[in-house]
Amino acid sequence: MTHDMPPDEFRRFGYEAIDWIAGFLANIRDYRVLPDVQPGALTDALPCSGPEHGEPMEELLRDFRDQIVPATTIWNHPRFFAYFSISASGPGILGELLTAALDVNGMLWKSSPAATELEQVALGWLRQWTGLPDDFFGIIYDTASVSSMHAIAAARELMFPEVRENGGLTGAVMYCSEHAHSSIDKGAIALGIGHKNVRKVPVDAEFRMLPGELDRMIGEDRAAGRKPFCVVATTGTTSTTSVDPVAAIVDIAERHGLWLHVDAAYGGPAAILPEMRPLFAGWERADSIVMNPHKWLFTPTDISVLYTRRADVLRRAFSLVPEYLKTAGDPRAVNLMDYGVQLGRRFRALKLWFVLRYFGREGITSILRDHIAMAREFAGWVRSDERFEVVAPVTFSLVCFRMRGPDEPNRAMMEAVNATGQVFLSHTVLNGRFALRLAIGNIQTTRDDLRVTWDLVKACYPHG
Ligand SMILES: Cc1ncc(COP(=O)(O)O)c(C=O)c1O
Repeated sequence: MTHDMPPDEFRRFGYEAIDWIAGFLANIRDYRVLPDVQPGALTDALPCSGPEHGEPMEELLRDFRDQIVPATTIWNHPRFFAYFSISASGPGILGELLTAALDVNGMLWKSSPAATELEQVALGWLRQWTGLPDDFFGIIYDTASVSSMHAIAAARELMFPEVRENGGLTGAVMYCSEHAHSSIDKGAIALGIGHKNVRKVPVDAEFRMLPGELDRMIGEDRAAGRKPFCVVATTGTTSTTSVDPVAAIVDIAERHGLWLHVDAAYGGPAAILPEMRPLFAGWERADSIVMNPHKWLFTPTDISVLYTRRADVLRRAFSLVPEYLKTAGDPRAVNLMDYGVQLGRRFRALKLWFVLRYFGREGITSILRDHIAMAREFAGWVRSDERFEVVAPVTFSLVCFRMRGPDEPNRAMMEAVNATGQVFLSHTVLNGRFALRLAIGNIQTTRDDLRVTWDLVKACYPHG
């Protein structure tokens, strides 16, 4: 007699849940992308305390369908074009399901041989596909924000090893472009670097870091007695997907003896495409690189990969082994808990391994290539309508565009489009002007979805 759900019941509702997922994925366009809900409405509709007695699974699944799903923004929707669009693909979902069943804690090799070794194997494949050299060690964290924080911590460890013991870091400065993601600032805040010590390097007309300015700012800081220690370049910035000139930046970082971290959270998977690889030139000389399979690699949230050529330094920054976790030191038995803040680790590699195997390099290449082609086609439609303009280069699968003229009508148009529930676009501000962003990245997105979106945008164009 077990306390858990009996196997027959599990099987019955397991099939039901899988049937629901299959129907959801097949008919996903029937759902609104943005739910039509008011803040607090779901909370008010749910009981304010938990049930005294267990409830039947039928009721749980019914309430999931009737209350939870209608209050959900459907990120997996093919017309979710906001922020960076993402995909939970079929193999990714199944991998996630099996991860939950195994419920492994991947802190030590001993606690989870398969989770530890599959992480190295899957990240080795991804490293090869993206053209990175073998000396990059890969590790999975939950998000790019956390991956980058660990990279900055390793940079700090390399330059200021005494800080781990003593704390009290002062005068350290780091650099990123003014278009870098706020996660870089947050990493610096968390590590005691200080927000004001994250220097924002200006960008060129295409939103790419100016290496000459970086060099000048490092020189100025040095002359003022400050201690530069880290540079972050971005290959695929959040607002426009601009690509910082990594080759020039790595030269500067090396000359000044600074750690170079590359934020390829969104753009990284595009390095699988031979024709896109030149955009990443120089990243193979970086100290660390982050890329997110949960952004543009069809793997369900969350999974972020940090590659580093300085795994020894990362380990030095974090390794602290209490007696109860001490194990025999077989060199092939890597203990991934040594490479970060967290002790417990989910078996995230399984879903990535499923995705990489199911689609293969060729399959992934053709999906990414199609997304890039679709973005260019959409930009072509925008350019061919004189009422609109494309306001940033279309480098990967994002189009930044606006209606010519003032900001307010642009904002109103975006809100009108989103209110239909058929499409979700987001915005940014470029050179002081409001711009709409259409980010392609969902595995189910088709040219028809783009056509529907463009027609909606035009229909919401303010007349009169
Ligand atoms: C370039 C870049 N870096 C980092 C992040 C943060 O990603 P995460 O949500 O995985 O922390 C984003 C999010 O969109 C991003 O665009």
